[in-house]
Amino acid sequence: MSPVLEIANLSALSIRDGAPVLRDVSLTVQPGEVHGLVGESGAGKSTIGKAVLDILPGTIRVTGGTIRLAGEDLGALSETRRRQRLAETVALIPQDPLTALNPARRIEPQVTDGLRRHKGLGRAEARDRALALFAEVQMRDPERVLASYPHELSGGMRQRVLIAAAFAMEPRLVIADEPTTALDVTVQRQVLRILRDLQRRHGTGVVFVTHDLGVVAQVCDRTTLLFAGKVFETGPTADLLARPVHPYTRALIAANPRPDAEEEGLAPVPAGVIQQCRGEIAAFDREQGTHV
Ligand SMILES: Nc1ncnc2c1ncn2[C@@H]1O[C@H](COP(=O)(O)OP(=O)(O)OP(=O)(O)O)[C@@H](O)[C@H]1O
Ligand SMILES: [Mg+2]
Repeated sequence: MSPVLEIANLSALSIRDGAPVLRDVSLTVQPGEVHGLVGESGAGKSTIGKAVLDILPGTIRVTGGTIRLAGEDLGALSETRRRQRLAETVALIPQDPLTALNPARRIEPQVTDGLRRHKGLGRAEARDRALALFAEVQMRDPERVLASYPHELSGGMRQRVLIAAAFAMEPRLVIADEPTTALDVTVQRQVLRILRDLQRRHGTGVVFVTHDLGVVAQVCDRTTLLFAGKVFETGPTADLLARPVHPYTRALIAANPRPDAEEEGLAPVPAGVIQQCRGEIAAFDREQGTHV
């Protein structure tokens, strides 16, 4: 089976200052695999997700590379066809469920709209499908949730709604951008387990964006570590955590001695390591410059 997502040599820059935002990024997600995208704030994690979904802001320009979705080169498609393929194939689980949900609408139409529009389901069928998905995400009181407005639900329930909505369209690929950062640790664990179960059951490929190595250890089969828009290390998560090769990866792990620790976020990486990383980026940019 072809990979569900294949990014090859993707580069992008900010048109404000011409600074590179992505530097020759390649990564592959197989069907049924959770691929973690890790890096500090500004490393380019969300930019990669947005590039795949074709929702980059006008201030970021892709300068090279290809994105293949289920074997199909998105850049080779017409705009209309690309939008259609993306709608059929990819779903996004965003970081903040409150901003992702329309506060003025009840949950039911927000989960069923896509099913009705793209899958041609009638109202009752779409509602049944939503309830089936709510069972899969272990939603308590599903009927009440459908009739509720977003502000009437807890953070964990809202994130379950978004996970259900993402899987409703039976996507081949789900892009989850820090889906549990806004939740407290206990709820975060539950939601991650639900996402993992759902993804396995449906054989869905997932790009899982996080800055948290503990979360990576819990849910990601493979992990790619980004620094300043460049891949510093990639591989099976167990190998990457047990035998990190890049000094930056080693420093991150050393700063989080227990990958399953319950603390949020990354402890600081020593200044010397950061300096070395910056040097590597500068050398890469110089090298690219000679090729342009
Ligand atoms: N709208 C924009 N226009 C131009 N450049 C941008 C824009 N948004 C972000 N950038 C640049 O792209 C880089 C990567 O940003 P991105 O949002 O992908 O980082 P991230 O890894 O998702 O960070 P975070 O963990 O904070 O979400 C930033 O360092 C910034 O310089
Ligand atoms: Mg981001």
